[in-house]
Amino acid sequence: MKPVVILLGAGGHARVLIDMILEHDLATPFGILDPDHRLWGQDLFGVPVLGGDNLLASMHEKGVTHFVVSVGSVGLTRIRQSLHQLGISHQLLPLTLKHPSAIVSARATIGVGCQLLAGVVVNTNAMIGRNVILNTGVIVEHDCKIEDHVHLAPGVTLSGNCHVGIGAHLGTGAIVRQGISIGANAIVGAGAVVIRDVPAEVTVVGVPARIQSRPSTRGA
Ligand SMILES: CC(C)(COP(=O)(O)OP(=O)(O)OC[C@H]1O[C@@H](n2cnc3c(N)ncnc32)[C@H](O)[C@@H]1OP(=O)(O)O)[C@@H](O)C(=O)NCCC(=O)NCCS
Repeated sequence: MKPVVILLGAGGHARVLIDMILEHDLATPFGILDPDHRLWGQDLFGVPVLGGDNLLASMHEKGVTHFVVSVGSVGLTRIRQSLHQLGISHQLLPLTLKHPSAIVSARATIGVGCQLLAGVVVNTNAMIGRNVILNTGVIVEHDCKIEDHVHLAPGVTLSGNCHVGIGAHLGTGAIVRQGISIGANAIVGAGAVVIRDVPAEVTVVGVPARIQSRPSTRGA
């Protein structure tokens, strides 16, 4: 039987995921929860926005089996981390979504709740944690290790043997040299080329990537 899913978040990333779920018949969407009350009663491609996260408590008894964190991130990934814990705390399973065009080595491992969008390639012996977004066209080369809750934005390329710490966000088109380690909750700006290890909790930008001299919001 197909999983019955509740989506957490009704923005642009949710539309991408619902498009993929409906187009490829990956699950039965039950509805969407979002704290923005202006969205309640609306729908995304026919999937209703039912209300706020407080409704999660009733989902299990309504036959919902799984949840999807449908919030993306342009910087900090903490909202996605807490929504993942929230779904689990309501006896729901994190749904793993893989677009049919994603190519994943049989010798790679993918954690629960991951989202692999169109055109992703994951090469041999790569290890992907839970609740990770590999966005459109991402390449994860051999032997990379990606910890939980990481978001690799569209077009990111990780060369072989890289490590990405928990909760890090790599912006659109970032390129990472082989063997590099990126620290927990670090942010790599769009278009950066990372050639040295990145400490935890910092933002790096540019070519080659350097710690941002005037950080503002850390991309929150
Ligand atoms: C790195 C990032 C998080 C910084 O955001 P921010 O803290 O709001 O930064 P600001 O836009 O205020 O810019 C601050 C400075 O950093 C520079 N900067 C910001 N992003 C940059 C980037 N990607 N590359 C080079 N320089 C960058 C700005 O030019 C500015 O420099 P200045 O002080 O000399 O004027 C953000 O620009 C970014 O690249 N996010 C990734 C977005 C993404 O992945 N989107 C896809 C989601 S699916």
